[in-house]
Amino acid sequence: MPDFSDIAALDEVALRRILDDSRARKKQRAGLPRGACDADRPLEGRILAMIFEKPSTRTRVSFDVAMRQLGGQTIEMSGEETQLGRGETVADTARVLSGYVDAIMIRTSKHSVLEELAEAASVPVVNGLTDRSHPCQVMSDILTFEEHRGPIRGAKVAWVGDGNNMATSWIEAAARFGFALELACPEELAPDMAVVKWAKAQGATIGITQDAVAAAADAACVATDVWVSMNDESADGKSAATARHNLLQPFQVDARIMAAAQDDALFMHCLPAHRGQEVTAEVIDGPQSVVWAEAENRLHAQKGILNWCMT
Ligand code: CP
Ligand code: NVA
Repeated sequence: MPDFSDIAALDEVALRRILDDSRARKKQRAGLPRGACDADRPLEGRILAMIFEKPSTRTRVSFDVAMRQLGGQTIEMSGEETQLGRGETVADTARVLSGYVDAIMIRTSKHSVLEELAEAASVPVVNGLTDRSHPCQVMSDILTFEEHRGPIRGAKVAWVGDGNNMATSWIEAAARFGFALELACPEELAPDMAVVKWAKAQGATIGITQDAVAAAADAACVATDVWVSMNDESADGKSAATARHNLLQPFQVDARIMAAAQDDALFMHCLPAHRGQEVTAEVIDGPQSVVWAEAENRLHAQKGILNWCMT
């Protein structure tokens, strides 16, 4: 059974299969109560364990509802409430859980924890965000882009802000889905250059600049994320957060940056957002923003992911 660890770990055929399933399921169940199952209940009798070592609103609720709608069930575990918090190894936890459940979703600080879990588990493991990447979010973002603007292949997307875990997943997606990605980040918060190198070797068109307006020029979509990610909070402390704010201020997505993009360019943000920091209220609450569709599509995209992993 395959893992969903990162966009780069899957080929375009598998990623497209997931999105096609997501889109079809979303269409088929339109109008049904949220608690009603999809007609085919493909995960009937299956259980997903959800491990959260970090806070979450969207990932937590969308995975839970996704499993219910596919006919399955979930068990939620927070790192501190389990023996993981008292030093039981990740590998031992993976072996034990593999005897109880059919798949494991984990949100963790260290990408190496996800890798260790996936290595030792005999059931599929899904990446619900690590310090390195957030592939489930980008699947939702591609679904959202294509619902609003048609095929993403050949389009230009601008990433403006921190070169963080979301940026990494966007870079991997550019390689797999064939769109051009221009990243505008402060030099100190540049994206992971190993991922950029990998994506370019795959034939992706990736540009890196420190000029946010130039990155947004003629883009079909402008995406950003928080200035201080969950991992930065624990690692950096308050003064480092202030330093990040200072570095990222010129990268705030505002009307000037959106005006550089195409007239009907989409604005995307994985949420949670901080109005007045990475994006102005005018932009995130304005007509080009598709942030609520992105959030809802987490549910639909993850149904495609779970179904692909488990059936
Ligand atoms: N976008 C996202 O993953 O949100 P949560 O942190 O609320 O899960
Ligand atoms: N980059 C953010 C994404 C939150 C969904 C973080 O890691 O906190």
